[in-house]
Amino acid sequence: MRQTIVAGNWKLNGTRDSVKNLINGIKNGLDNNDKACVIISPVAIHMGLILKLLSDFSGIKVGSQNACANDSGAYTGELSCAMLQEYNVEYVIVGHSERRSLFKENDDDVANRFKAVKDSGLIPILCVGETLEERESDQTEVIISRQLDAVIDKFGVDSLQNSVIAYEPVWAIGTGKTATGEQAQEVHNFIRQKIAKLNQVISDKIQILYGGSVNGGNAKELFGKNDIDGGLIGGASLKADEFLKIIKAAN
Ligand code: PGA
Repeated sequence: MRQTIVAGNWKLNGTRDSVKNLINGIKNGLDNNDKACVIISPVAIHMGLILKLLSDFSGIKVGSQNACANDSGAYTGELSCAMLQEYNVEYVIVGHSERRSLFKENDDDVANRFKAVKDSGLIPILCVGETLEERESDQTEVIISRQLDAVIDKFGVDSLQNSVIAYEPVWAIGTGKTATGEQAQEVHNFIRQKIAKLNQVISDKIQILYGGSVNGGNAKELFGKNDIDGGLIGGASLKADEFLKIIKAAN
């Protein structure tokens, strides 16, 4: 049985006050019946404050929105896995489509960042997904395969052990246009079958999240699909009540 993960990706949002309110709002709305593993990924500058707010509470885990492939040195603007680990960050989003498109991280960069996260004992959330153009030209599986193979060919299928994958169709991110449960399930199943051909145990265990305009209204349908093990949530993770609805949809 795979535990559902509900991971918030706060992107470039939040002030000292809004972050405090959001954390407290989520904390207060959680209860013992909630089954999902809840993760929030804030902007790095807010992490210290957040980890302090969560020091007496284990119901929310903290993730980073990215991590460098190198441990230290001349890499201006980056954040290393060793540093994240020192501050009790547990998860790292790797290869988000905004990193790929806006910051030009290619498949190989993403694979190297993924490996650094794994090597440090943190858990990567590896994002894959096709653009609208790619979907409309029937390239979805080709693109997803290429993005996964960048990691598998370089570091082996075993590197997917204790990792999380997020399927995030680019056309659904921040657009309000969610993939239907069937559309998402089809791709999730494709990913799981692809891994199964290499290692059945890893394929059975790996959590595959869906991301792209998930909200309190559509989460239940998505999470109900066989191969959808939760969500990576952008916009809706910035409102405590909406994020809580998504967490409750996993119960
Ligand atoms: P969204 O973002 O929920 O706002 O579509 C998802 C993501 O980018 O991870």
